[in-house]
Order: sequence, then C-alpha cells, then structure tokens
Amino acid sequence: METIAVYPGSFDPLTNGHIDLVERGLKIFDKVVIVTLNNRAKKPLFAVEERLTMIRDCFKGMDSVEVDAFDGLVVDYARKRNANAILRGMRAVSDFENEFQMAMFNRRLNRDVQTVFLMTGMRWIFTSSSGIKEVASFGGDVSGMVPPSIEKKLKEKFHKAYSKG
Ligand code: PNS
Repeated sequence: METIAVYPGSFDPLTNGHIDLVERGLKIFDKVVIVTLNNRAKKPLFAVEERLTMIRDCFKGMDSVEVDAFDGLVVDYARKRNANAILRGMRAVSDFENEFQMAMFNRRLNRDVQTVFLMTGMRWIFTSSSGIKEVASFGGDVSGMVPPSIEKKLKEKFHKAYSKG
C-alpha cells in the first residue's frame, strides 16, 4: 500500500528549506502531500490561493507530490487522507519546544498518525519564511533561499520597497 506523509505548514512563502524537506521525505514515503494550514499566531503575507499556486508551480510534473489547503486541524486532514505520518522539519534547538508541543497535541488528538521529524539540511538551517519576508521587505537579496518564481512574487509584493532603490 502507498505510504503517505502530510507535510503541514504556513508556507508563507515556500522556501528552499521546505523543498529540501519534501525531497528527503520522498525517500521515506511514496507520496508527500503539502498542506497549507492556518497558523493562528501568524498573519500571512500571501493568500492561501497564492501560496497554493506558488507551491504547485515548484512541484510541477512531480506525481509523488500533492499540494492542498485545509482549514482545520492537521490531524483531521491526516485522517481524511489516510496518511501514515505528519512530516515536519526541525532546524536548531529553537524549533524544538514548539514542534514538541505540536507533536504532543497531535498525538493526543489522533494516535493513529505519527509525527516524523527530519533535520533541516545544513544549507537551510538559518532560513525561515519570516526571515526571508523581512529581508525581502527591505529590498534585500533572497535569491538562493527561495525558488526564482517565489523571489519574483516577493518582489511584486514588496514592490515599493524595491523601487525605492
Ligand atoms: O509553518 P508553520 O507556521 O510552522 O506551521 C504551523 C502549522 C500550520 C503546521 C500549525 O499551526 C498547525 O498545524 N495548524 C493547524 C491547527 C492544528 O492542527 N493545530 C494543532 C497543533 S497545536
């Protein structure tokens, strides 16, 4: 039977670190379903539809990657998809507490789905969507941290900041 991992996140926007994690997840699972969910603690820059379009564009032609959005609990989405696992990336120690808490909540809510953590690749240990947005908002160079198509979208969003020179 096909093994499925649900990879939840805000993906506001998707970064090269996220892409690396999906690629590595595919070495363990037959399919990775990237699902954008609402993190109530964050105010998104990109609307869900924009994020979906941007993510789909990055994984065009890859049948083993699906992209979706869900308004609710990640465990409910995982159940709906008959997923074997929830996939999350862990960067440095600072990610641990939040990830640990989420994994515990998710386990309490649904014991049938396991959270699997992969350590973020060293190249991406410092990248985060929020850091990238901050740099981009001041017109800084984020190339190499996000795919070129997403760099373009960030430039469009922060057009004023970039055009100030
Ligand atoms: O990319 P992020 O912002 O770190 O992702 C966090 C996300 C979206 C995975 C998390 O906030 C989430 O799962 N939200 C959906 C609601 C939910 O299921 N919460 C349960 C864990 S506390």
